[in-house]
Amino acid sequence: MSSLDLSTQLAPGNSRGLPLANPVMTASGTFGYGTEYAEVFDIQKLGAIVCKGTTLQARTGNPQPRLVETTGGVLNSIGMENIGIDALVKEKAPVWANWRVPVIVNILGQSVEEYAELAGLLDGVAGVSGIEVNISCPNVKTGGIEFGASLESAAAATAAARGNTSLPLIVKLSPNVTEITEIATAVVAAGADALSLINTIKGMAIDTGSRKPVLGNVSGGLSGPAIKPVALHMVYRVARSVDVPVIGCGGIASANDALEFIMAGASAVQVGTAIFADPRAPLDILEGIGRFMEKEGVSRLSELIGAAT
Ligand SMILES: Cc1cc2nc3c(=O)[nH]c(=O)nc-3n(C[C@H](O)[C@H](O)[C@H](O)COP(=O)(O)O)c2cc1C
Repeated sequence: MSSLDLSTQLAPGNSRGLPLANPVMTASGTFGYGTEYAEVFDIQKLGAIVCKGTTLQARTGNPQPRLVETTGGVLNSIGMENIGIDALVKEKAPVWANWRVPVIVNILGQSVEEYAELAGLLDGVAGVSGIEVNISCPNVKTGGIEFGASLESAAAATAAARGNTSLPLIVKLSPNVTEITEIATAVVAAGADALSLINTIKGMAIDTGSRKPVLGNVSGGLSGPAIKPVALHMVYRVARSVDVPVIGCGGIASANDALEFIMAGASAVQVGTAIFADPRAPLDILEGIGRFMEKEGVSRLSELIGAAT
C-alpha cells in the first residue's frame, strides 16, 4: 500500500487546511474521544477522528432505553451525553496534541451564541485540528434540531462558529429536511470549509407487548446499513451542488461501501455504527480501499473522487 497516495484535503479554502493521510474517519458519537480505542488498534493509522458531540455544559442525555436494534440498523436517542467543552479542552485535547491523527471536535449549541462561544473556546487549542458543527442532531429537544431544519438557522449557526475561529469548519447536515442541497449551499455561503452528511434519520420502534415506544425518548435517529442508499444519494447530489469537499457518512460497513461514497463525490468517509459491531472496522475499510486501488491500478485516491458520473 506504500506506493498509493490516499491523502485528501478537507479544507483547501482554509489558511490552516485540513490534510488527511487517508480518507477514513470515525463518525461523531460512535468512537468516544478516540482515547477509549487506543488500546484496541493503532488509531494513528486513521485519516481523522471526530469526537463525541460537545456542548458548553456537561450533559447526562436522554432517559433509557436509548439504543435499539432495528432491521439493518440502530435507533439511538443518546441525547448528547458528553463531558462539556471545558473538560474536553483540559483533559482530552492535551492527549490529542501528541497524536499524529488529526482530531475534529463535533459541537452542538442551543443558540446561535453558543455555537459562537464553543468555536471560540476551541480556537488555538493544541490537539484540535478542526470543528464539525452539528446542526442536525435529531435527539435533542432544544437547540440542534431547529438549526439543521431551516436555511436561515443553519446559516446562522455556521456564521456564528465561523466568526469566532480560524480552524477548518465542517458543517454536518441533517437528512431530515425537504431539500438538502439548499441547506448545503446556504451553509457554504455562511463560511463552511467542508460538509459532512448524513446525520441520523428520524425514526421510532414500538414494543407491541407493552404497546409503548421502545425508546425512552419515544423517537430516535436511525443509522447503519439501512440508511446507506439514502445517504449515498444525498452525498451524490450535494457534491454536485457545492464547491467545497464533502465527507460521506451513513451505513458504511465495508471498503466497497466507502468506495461508493467516494465515487459519489466524497473526499473522505466517516464510519459510525459499524464500529459497534467491530471497533477495527475503520482500519479494515482503509486496508480494503488500498487493495481495491492496487487491483484497479489506481495510484491516487483523488482519481476516484466523484468518478461515478
Ligand atoms: C450512538 C450514536 C451517537 C451519535 N452521536 C452523534 C453526535 O454526538 N454528533 C453527531 O453529529 N452525530 C452523532 N451520531 C451520528 C453519526 O455520527 C452518523 O452521522 C450516523 O450514525 C450515520 O452514520 P452510520 O450509519 O455509519 O452510523 C451518532 C450516532 C450514533 C449511532
